[in-house]
Amino acid sequence: MGSSTTLLVLLFVLGNGVAVTMGRFLRTEVEVIEEDLDEELFLVKESKLVANTSAGKMVVFYDRRVPERLQIATTTMEPRSLMIHRFLAATNVMYVVSGEANLGYIDQNNQRLTQIRLREGDVYQIPAGSAFYIANEESDQKLEIISGIEPSQGLGDDKITEDPPRSYNLNKRKPDFENKYGWRVAVDGSQYHPLKSSGIGIYHEYLSAGSMMAPRVNPMATEYGIVVNGSGRVQVLFPNGSNAMDTNITKGDVFFIPSNFPYCEIAHKGESLELLGFTTSAQRNRPVVLVGARSVVRTMEGPELATSFGVSKEEIKHLVSAQHESVILPTP
Ligand SMILES: *[C@@H]1O[C@H](CO)[C@@H](O)[C@H](O)[C@H]1NC(C)=O
Ligand SMILES: *[C@@H]1O[C@H](CO)[C@@H](O)[C@H](O)[C@H]1NC(C)=O
Ligand SMILES: *[C@@H]1O[C@H](CO)[C@@H](O)[C@H](O)[C@H]1NC(C)=O
Ligand SMILES: *[C@@H]1O[C@H](CO)[C@@H](O)[C@H](O)[C@H]1NC(C)=O
Repeated sequence: MGSSTTLLVLLFVLGNGVAVTMGRFLRTEVEVIEEDLDEELFLVKESKLVANTSAGKMVVFYDRRVPERLQIATTTMEPRSLMIHRFLAATNVMYVVSGEANLGYIDQNNQRLTQIRLREGDVYQIPAGSAFYIANEESDQKLEIISGIEPSQGLGDDKITEDPPRSYNLNKRKPDFENKYGWRVAVDGSQYHPLKSSGIGIYHEYLSAGSMMAPRVNPMATEYGIVVNGSGRVQVLFPNGSNAMDTNITKGDVFFIPSNFPYCEIAHKGESLELLGFTTSAQRNRPVVLVGARSVVRTMEGPELATSFGVSKEEIKHLVSAQHESVILPTP
């Protein structure tokens, strides 16, 4: 079943008069990397505008320094628009930031068309090797989607199931942790089973103005983040504790954190910071919090870490004793 079939289905679904955005991504031409060893070390600077019309656009961010090479894509679609992807040899984990979408895809495994309605906060994984479309049929609402794309994924790894999987809504979930400074919610293959085949996990976090996500480290996987709203800072240390990056981030910025590098995010004073992110291994590899009650190192390197992150020893002591502020903290 080829792309012409897909197009026919689309026309049937939508009728006439919709604007069409055609996207094709994962082009492979090689560009020169501008190695930038300054404080922006882990910002993803390479991106490609793969679709751009008056009906919307799609930008893919990628960084060849990352072994897993997950790509982050942002898609913005105007009301009453349609985007078609003929064939994507990669797993695509989508998150609806705002708006509503009608998604349809033909899975190469079973040649069957699956159609599903996605709402704000929904996570959905399109199997590798699918042709798919996304339609924004609303007449007054933009659609914004962020995707994590896993190109190294082999084809045909996804199980053929009788009923296509449902979407998973992150907004309806109770956050994994929450206090007056913010919240964080994450989903992996243990909660949303399709993610088991890709090994991709997703998190969404919110920091109120001036708050900081406690320094932590992911011992197993690369973490990716994209600023959905607001602005702040992301600070990363080398595994040996010296400073690797400390940079301002604002809406649309994409960064990655290699495994074993301690890091934290801080919302600017007077501005909140909202992040969406992906990890490359969904095997329950949540980052380990370094500071605070849940800390694995609270009895060891506290002072050095505190100095690296610009927090006083007294503040660390306070954090360690303050259970309820263990994950999201006010900045000094
Ligand atoms: C993208 O499309 C918009 C509207 O059609 C146009 O104004 C803009 O210049 C385009 N951007 C690029 C980089 O081509
Ligand atoms: C820590 O590791 C980084 C990166 O390998 C290196 O550039 C830096 O000099 C190291 N710092 C110390 C104090 O060893
Ligand atoms: C980072 O943002 C802060 C707060 O907005 C600002 O004071 C500072 O100058 C910025 N730093 C850089 C390097 O842009
Ligand atoms: C985005 O962040 C700004 C600044 O913190 C805030 O005023 C605004 O309400 C946020 N918008 C959304 C949609 O959360």
